[in-house]
Amino acid sequence: MNVAVLLLLGLGLLEAEGRCFFNRTQEHCVCYNLSQENLGSIIQCLPASVVEFSGGDLERYIAFPISDLDPSTIEMLGSLVIKKIIFSDLLVPEILLARVLRFFSYTNVEELVFESCIFEGRGNWDEMAGQHLPILSLHFHNVTSAPLTGREWDFSRLRRWLETLQELAVTGSHVTSLPCDIGRVFRALHSLDMAQNSLGDESLMPAFCKGAFPQLQVLSLQRNNVTSYHSVCKSVQLLPELQHLDLSQNKLMADPSSSCQWPVSLRIFNLSDTGLNEVLTPLPPSLEVLDMSCNHLHAVDISLSSLKKLFLSQNMLQAVPSIRNYPMLDTLQLDNNLITELPWDEVKLLGHLQDVAAAGNPYNCSCSGAGGLQALAGMGHLGQGWPQNYMCHSPPRYQGRLVKDVPVSVLQCNSAAVIAPVCIAFALLGMAGAIYLVRSRSRLVRPCHRV
Ligand SMILES: *[C@@H]1O[C@H](CO)[C@@H](O)[C@H](O)[C@H]1NC(C)=O
Ligand SMILES: *[C@@H]1O[C@H](CO)[C@@H](O)[C@H](O)[C@H]1NC(C)=O
Ligand SMILES: *[C@@H]1O[C@H](CO)[C@@H](O)[C@H](O)[C@H]1NC(C)=O
Ligand SMILES: *[C@@H]1O[C@H](CO)[C@@H](O)[C@H](O)[C@H]1NC(C)=O
Ligand SMILES: *[C@@H]1O[C@H](CO)[C@@H](O)[C@H](O)[C@H]1NC(C)=O
Repeated sequence: MNVAVLLLLGLGLLEAEGRCFFNRTQEHCVCYNLSQENLGSIIQCLPASVVEFSGGDLERYIAFPISDLDPSTIEMLGSLVIKKIIFSDLLVPEILLARVLRFFSYTNVEELVFESCIFEGRGNWDEMAGQHLPILSLHFHNVTSAPLTGREWDFSRLRRWLETLQELAVTGSHVTSLPCDIGRVFRALHSLDMAQNSLGDESLMPAFCKGAFPQLQVLSLQRNNVTSYHSVCKSVQLLPELQHLDLSQNKLMADPSSSCQWPVSLRIFNLSDTGLNEVLTPLPPSLEVLDMSCNHLHAVDISLSSLKKLFLSQNMLQAVPSIRNYPMLDTLQLDNNLITELPWDEVKLLGHLQDVAAAGNPYNCSCSGAGGLQALAGMGHLGQGWPQNYMCHSPPRYQGRLVKDVPVSVLQCNSAAVIAPVCIAFALLGMAGAIYLVRSRSRLVRPCHRV
């Protein structure tokens, strides 16, 4: 086999002891610390669609002669079914990467992943100028490299390829800034995942400057150093296609007065675990999915007419938000709050609601709390956790029992139907003027209004 092919397939293959393992069901082949002695074992990876090279140090091969490929090698590369290549736990000299990357233009590889790699030095990317690659998705996780700032020249050499890239992820890699010019290169990018980095409020405006990432639909800033809701809104204002924004696991603060308007295209918004005590405003007007789980919300009093999924688990809500405010809602998650009852009259209104989760709440099992839950479960709308995670906390006679096991008699629960005639009877008697009867009536009237 041609040396260049081997080098291409195995940037990481020339290390100490190791060999390749092919899992046919997963079409996944992993090569650990390949060396010249056991290089042959890479042959079994040829039918795989995912090939992973794990472990090794490529530094010694910087000066390795890499010639142009002959026609038969090019044809052979074109016939390979490999779609994704993963490099993990490797030391990658950038100079070597810059020299072999162009050979990917002969393959069908669409996805390239670097995980726990250290990129060393700076490469000369001149040979990539004007070069198109079939790679559409590029992922870096836990990598270290020379800083991105001041590398505009390198990016301009890679422009022809990068302007066709659709997905980019740079996660867990201590990134503190994204220069404006870099974003302008990624003209077709629709997903950018920057989770688990150190991007702060001040780095957002430059990153999403005018003309940067014009087609971006999905943006994750999960677990960064973002604090200002207003700054995020201001910075993403220029992303006209943005549909999905993940700000989860940042510590957000309410800005005194925020007049910023979110892109109207925004449909999915993740504010989970962001330290919220109250719902931040404004919210994007056309939201379909809103995740505010794992916060400290005491109440949620908002109205979103197109909302379909609302996630509010792990908060401090004492009541179910008014479902009338979400006419399109199909999913509602309320696990682990302080909710004592699921009001039956609200539950009856749930036109689209298919999926409710409300386990781990301190239910009051006097009539209506238990009744609403039992009715929902009866319609098959209560998800996982029913019945074992739905417990009564009060009244004392039901404490510690499952909500499912509480007998809900018509007399106790549907008090309007049963008690109304009684009330009317007493009212009539009251009008007759019997003072002691008027007193009894005031005690009994209350349930008439309750239901
Ligand atoms: C291949 O992967 C599947 C799914 O992970 C696993 O169940 C199976 O045991 C693997 N086969 C081999 C030979 O490792
Ligand atoms: C991150 O990568 C380094 C090598 O660069 C490795 O030593 C470390 O174990 C990796 N950390 C994780 C969480 O994978
Ligand atoms: C996060 O932001 C704060 C304030 O903006 C700053 O003091 C801190 O150093 C930042 N932390 C990191 C890890 O960048
Ligand atoms: C929001 O982000 C958290 C992780 O921070 C994730 O577990 C959750 O699934 C996300 N929610 C949605 C609706 O995607
Ligand atoms: C439970 O509900 C009943 C009837 O609505 C009410 O009288 C009682 O105070 C509630 N108990 C608690 C602990 O909230």
